[in-house]
Amino acid sequence: MKQYQRVVSALDRSAYIGLMLRTDFATPEVELNGLAAPAKPPLVDPFGRAIRYLRVSVTDRCDFRCVYCMAEDMAFLPKRDLLTLEELDRLCSAFISRGTRKLRITGGEPLMRRDVMTLFGQLSRHLQSGALEELTLTTNGSQLVKYAKQLADCGIRRINVSVDTLDPAKFRFLTRRGDLARVLEGIDAAQDAGLAIKINAVALKDVNEDEFISLTEWAHGRGMDITFIEVMPLGEIDGQRVDQYIPLTQVCAKLSERFRLEPTAYATGGPARYMRAQETGGRIGLITPLTHNFCESCNRVRVTCTGTLFMCLGQEDAADLRTPLRASEGDELLHAAIEEAIARKPRGHDFIIDRTTQMPAVSRHMSMTGG
Ligand code: 5AD
Ligand code: SF4
Repeated sequence: MKQYQRVVSALDRSAYIGLMLRTDFATPEVELNGLAAPAKPPLVDPFGRAIRYLRVSVTDRCDFRCVYCMAEDMAFLPKRDLLTLEELDRLCSAFISRGTRKLRITGGEPLMRRDVMTLFGQLSRHLQSGALEELTLTTNGSQLVKYAKQLADCGIRRINVSVDTLDPAKFRFLTRRGDLARVLEGIDAAQDAGLAIKINAVALKDVNEDEFISLTEWAHGRGMDITFIEVMPLGEIDGQRVDQYIPLTQVCAKLSERFRLEPTAYATGGPARYMRAQETGGRIGLITPLTHNFCESCNRVRVTCTGTLFMCLGQEDAADLRTPLRASEGDELLHAAIEEAIARKPRGHDFIIDRTTQMPAVSRHMSMTGG
């Protein structure tokens, strides 16, 4: 709270100026229509945070309907509203040319997007050139049997797979239609293909509370990290969020009954804290968007499948990138729209403030912005 209310300090300003002067940001020359043109400068927001991490949702659709994420009968977007695979490539490439080093493809379920492998294949050129450090995705695992090998072939090294329970009946109830066995086969396939996996589990009151320890033992037993996520107030769902919410302090307390937990220095610039369970040597992440605020080091922005750029997961302010993408074949307008938006990236999010109300702080669903 205190951190959130802090005003822009002199320190922030000098960091901003420092970043602007850093030599590793020196702009290389690029070829444009045969003529050398100076590359555009890296994206740095008004608080001095360089934008290094982009998350892009490629579809709002999903083969599951997780109770905390979607309503039973979701109305999905018409195809014409979605960015085409080519537009997605242009958009990601524009960000990469401006300093994005890590790109996460999300959804909905990204592997439900038709021909999504074409996009991964194209984006892999940025891994080969060294412009991009990491290309990754967050998936529900249902299509991994089919795609794990191809993903690995595109240079993907690590993926996040969502598994909230290891009980098949509970899994079916939580996802409203998912098949746990198929997801577990997908995880096998991904590990066989050499992909490292991090499990994401949303902590849900009365649903998987009794499984925090067994989920962790299972994940660590297979060499996977696990992250527990607090339910976030995103989008209208059937039912009340307060019914689902457990603070992660309680998750931590449960885990401490079984594991000795050491804090680790591991940090991703995101809202996760990591600990190590001494008994297994495995890592446990805790994502607490409601009880903590890690906005100071936020290096990320998100784009929805319709090309709307959200500068902060917890704010409504957004910029339309689809119009500039479609207005011309070149990327000048796109770059201008991105620059203008990053200049408005807010200092922090509003979840904490909105917690006193029953309304979702943000009305869009997680499947739009993809976590
Ligand atoms: N609150 C917290 N986590 C959510 N996820 C989807 N919707 C919500 C929500 N409202 C999770 C998914 C996935 C990750 C990307 O976000 O389960 O693990
Ligand atoms: Fe699909 Fe993920 Fe939402 Fe579940 S949480 S419905 S798997 S997008």
